[in-house]
This record gives sequence, structure tokens and C-alpha cells, in this order.
Amino acid sequence: MALQLGDIAPDFEADSTAGKINFHSWLGNSWGVIFSHPKDFTPVCTTELGATAKLKGEFEKRGVKVIGLSVDSVDDHIAWKRDIEQTSGAKVEFPMIADPDLKVANLYGMIHPNASDRFTVRSVFVIDPKKKVRLTLNYPASAGRNFDEILRVIDSLQLTDQFKVATPVNWKQGQDVIIVPSVSNDDAKKLFPAGWKEVKPYLRLTPQPRS
Ligand code: BEZ
Repeated sequence: MALQLGDIAPDFEADSTAGKINFHSWLGNSWGVIFSHPKDFTPVCTTELGATAKLKGEFEKRGVKVIGLSVDSVDDHIAWKRDIEQTSGAKVEFPMIADPDLKVANLYGMIHPNASDRFTVRSVFVIDPKKKVRLTLNYPASAGRNFDEILRVIDSLQLTDQFKVATPVNWKQGQDVIIVPSVSNDDAKKLFPAGWKEVKPYLRLTPQPRS
């Protein structure tokens, strides 16, 4: 069965551009993003990895380690890295896993045989410090992902882990959030001293709490 939210992200050992990696040890106590791309030296993938390299500071700010994966070799990854750096103007400092035997791809369900039985689709897994899978995404090869969206969901996960809130449609950092329905109005007065706007008894909007 496919990996689901709340599952423990499978551990593995694999070769990467940073040498042999034991995934769980490499993650340590950080959040993690593991993402697959179909093929090295392809245009959409080149733009995606360049964009990820540019977002290094944003991932670091959130305590997130990023790791890429494709079925190509470490040598290909290293050669392709130069193209990514040249086209994006950013250094690729996150590791890229070489998975020619599809070991990790199969463990994570990154091969969708009816799309391609040779190449991974564009999968993303966000993993929390307890190694739990918190977000899964699968995109087709023809559509580059939106890495701002991945950061946005990480912001939501980190906020909602800390406070009894949820984030509404298209929410962005700094915007109002929803007080979860399980919190009574009496408790909400203590937890959210800034107050709230009651749109419906089950939809109460409050300023984003700060840690
Ligand atoms: C690309 O990254 O451009 C790509 C990769 C595989 C199939 C189609 C497009």
C-alpha cells in the first residue's frame, strides 16, 4: 500500500552526491523533504532543482533538510548539477540520491507503473522530526512543482503542531488562522487573547499566534 500520512518514513541506505546516506541518521532531528524527479538532464527537472537550490535559506529557516532522488547515477547527478547551477545561478547544496535499482523509489511508491515503469514521477514527502510522513504529493513529469507551496504547507504544519489552530484556504504566513472546533469559546479566550471573529460558530478566525 502507498505511504500514507502519519506513517513512519521508511529508512534506507543509498548512494548520493554527498556519499552514502543512511536516511534516518541523515535527517537527525530535522524536518525533511525527499523529492523525486524523473530524469537528469531534462528541462522541467532542471528548473525545479534550480528553484530548490535558490530556496536553501527558506528551508534552513524552517529547520528542513532537503534531498532529491532519481534513478540516474551519482556521476550523472554531479555532471547535471553544473548545468543546474549555471542555469539557476544558485549552488546545489542538498544531496541527490542515485537510485538506479529503484530501491528507494519502490519503498516510497515513486514509481507509478501506469505513468512510467522506468522513471519516478514527481513525488514529494514532507517528514517531521519524529520521522512521520506529514505531506505527500505526486505530480506528472510534464508539470513542474510549486516549491513555494511546499514551504507554505511546512509553515502550516509547524504552526498547527504548536497551537490549536488550522489554516484556511490559500493561507500564507502572517494571515489569520482558524481556531480548531474542539476548543470551546471559554478556552479560546485564554488561548487566543487577541480574540477572534466568529464567521460561524465552527469558523472562528484569529490572528496568527507567534511562538
Ligand atoms: C522534464 O524534466 O522536462 C521531463 C522529464 C521527464 C519527462 C518529461 C519531462
